[in-house]
Amino acid sequence: MSYVRYKNNDLFVENVSVKKIVSKFNTPFYLYSEGGVIQNYKSFLNNFKKSRPLICFSVKANSNIQILKILKKMGSGADVVSGGELLKAIKSGIKPNKIVFSGVGKTEEEIRLAIKKNILLINVESENEAILINKVAGKLKKKTSIGIRLNPDINAPTHKKISTGKAEDKFGLSKTSLISFCLNSKKLRNLRLNAISVHIGSQILSENPFKKTLRVLEEIIKKTKINFKFVDLGGGFGITYKKSDRKINLKNYSNLVEKFRRKYNCNIIFEPGRAIVGDTAILVTKVQYLKKGSNKTFAILNAGMNDFMRIALYDAVHNIIPVVKNNKKNKGPLEFVGPICETTCKFIKYNKYQKLNQSDYVAISDVGAYGASLSSNYNTKPLIAEIIINKTKVRVIRKKQDIKSLLNQ
Ligand code: LLP
Repeated sequence: MSYVRYKNNDLFVENVSVKKIVSKFNTPFYLYSEGGVIQNYKSFLNNFKKSRPLICFSVKANSNIQILKILKKMGSGADVVSGGELLKAIKSGIKPNKIVFSGVGKTEEEIRLAIKKNILLINVESENEAILINKVAGKLKKKTSIGIRLNPDINAPTHKKISTGKAEDKFGLSKTSLISFCLNSKKLRNLRLNAISVHIGSQILSENPFKKTLRVLEEIIKKTKINFKFVDLGGGFGITYKKSDRKINLKNYSNLVEKFRRKYNCNIIFEPGRAIVGDTAILVTKVQYLKKGSNKTFAILNAGMNDFMRIALYDAVHNIIPVVKNNKKNKGPLEFVGPICETTCKFIKYNKYQKLNQSDYVAISDVGAYGASLSSNYNTKPLIAEIIINKTKVRVIRKKQDIKSLLNQ
C-alpha cells in the first residue's frame, strides 16, 4: 500500500497527512488515493499486456462515479450487474461498447435498457434468461450481443461466501448445459453468441484455479467448435490484506492466457474489481469511547458495520492503524468495535497496540473495494463521506448523506 504510508509518525495518503484532513472534515470518511487507483490499473494491464485485454472494472467493487471517471480516463470499460450500475457507468463516460452485464436475475426492464444501449455483452446465466433476452430483442427489432457464462465447477480457495464457480453455486451454466446451449443457440434468432464468460470467485490468491478454468474453456471450445469473438475471464484476483496472505503471481497465468488467445484467435476481457481499488483507501474514524471490559479494553469507534460490512459479513481481516504513531504501549488487549447494536459490529482485536486515548483517530486499511459500495443506512445512519487525494489535492467525491433524506422514508 505504497500510496498510504507513514512519514515519521504521521499517516499520509499521497502527499497529505491524515492528521490535516481530520482537522478539516468530520469523521468517519473513506479516504482514497487517486495515484493508487491509476497505479493498480496500469500494473494489472501490464501483467497481461501481451494479450491486450479489455479491462472491464467491476463496478460493484466501487461505484463512486468519480472513481469510475478516473478509470474511464485510463481506458477501462465496466462490468455491471444492475440497471443502476449500467447507467452510472455510462454517465461516467464509459462507452457502452466497453460494458458487460452479468448477474443471474436481470429483469426485463434491465435487459431492455442493455439492448437499447447496445452494450458489448449481456453475459447470460441461464437458458430462460436467454429466451427472455431473445424476446425483448425481437420486440426492439435488434440482434443483441451475448456471452454465455460457464460454471466450471472449480473450487477456488477463498471464503465460502464469495466463491462462485462450484456446481452448487447459482452462477452460470454447467459444462454440459453450456455445450448444449451453444449447439442450439442459432434458434434464438435475435441473439449473437459472441462470448463465453467465467468468474470463479473473489479474493483468490492462487493462480491454479484460474489455470484450471482455462483448461475447461479449451475443452468447451474444442467440443462446440465455436470461434468465440471474446473470452471473458472475469475477476477474482486477490490482494494481501494480512501478512500471511500470499501475493498472487500472475506471470505464468498471463503466459497461458496469451497462448490461449493466439490459439483460439479471440479477444480477452477481464473484470477485476478488488485488484484495482482494494488497497487504495482507508476508512478514517475516531475513538468515541474507551471502555474497560473484563479482560480487554473496547475502543468504540464512530464507524460501524453499516459503513464497512466486510468484517461482519466475511470474517475479513482489516488492520486498524493509528493516524499518529506514539510509540507507547497500551495496557492489555484492545478490541476495536463500532456503535451498531449488533454483536458482529466489531472490527479487530489486538493483544498489543499503541497507547490509545479517547478522541484519537485511527484508520481501517484496504477498504477501497466493497467498502463504500456495500455500506448501508442500518440503524438510520447516513452514508459517510468519500474523499480522494491526488498528490496534494483533496477532493470530496461523495458528501456525507443528509440525515434529513432518511427521515421521510
Ligand atoms: N465479475 C463478476 C461476474 C463478479 O461477480 C465479480 C465479483 C467480479 C467480476 C469482481 O471480482 P473481484 O475482482 O473484485 O474479486 N463483497 C465481497 C466480494 C463479492 C464479489 C462478487 N463478485 C467481498 O467484499 O469480499
